[in-house]
Amino acid sequence: MADSGSIRRVLLVGFMGSGKTTTGRLLAARLGWDFLDFDAEVEARSGRSVESFFERGLEDEFRDLEVRVGRELLDRRDVVLASGGGWPCAPGRTPREDQETLSVWLQVDPATAVLRVEEAGGGRPLLAGSDPAGRAEELLEKRLRYYGEARLHLDTEGRTPREVAEAIARYLSPKEGIRKAE
Ligand code: S3P
Repeated sequence: MADSGSIRRVLLVGFMGSGKTTTGRLLAARLGWDFLDFDAEVEARSGRSVESFFERGLEDEFRDLEVRVGRELLDRRDVVLASGGGWPCAPGRTPREDQETLSVWLQVDPATAVLRVEEAGGGRPLLAGSDPAGRAEELLEKRLRYYGEARLHLDTEGRTPREVAEAIARYLSPKEGIRKAE
């Protein structure tokens, strides 16, 4: 494993409701790095909301754009990146050999994920059916092996996004090896 001093970006992966965006923002502020969110970037580039891609049956287009955005953002340095919950779910997506990238899986139980998404006002078409909990369980089960490719696994159950961000920051700077942006 790379020593933490060579890390120049953090990539958060995990299921919907795992706290990628909130945690990512807090971590970026803590490190003095930029924060970038794949979904927000897709929306900015397409002029379309993520929800509307799904509502109009354009998930394939969304996924293509998401992959392109991911590729570009993974070239940036001194950034915290929040991927969408489906982005890592194809072979080879999460960079494993890249010493500059710390990938972190924010783990969450399906029931908690549904609760958090509902509390945040919904907006996740994949969990919008009549049985969101069942759907979340089924989807998460299929995705575990991809999320598990991340270098660091952190359980978010019973922890606030601030606590999770702190845990990542501590991992990164045991010897203050992390470089702050100027
Ligand atoms: C999705 C997760 C969402 C968003 C889209 C699809 C997924 O992002 O990209 O609704 O397939 O899990 P978040 O994980 O940020 O909610």
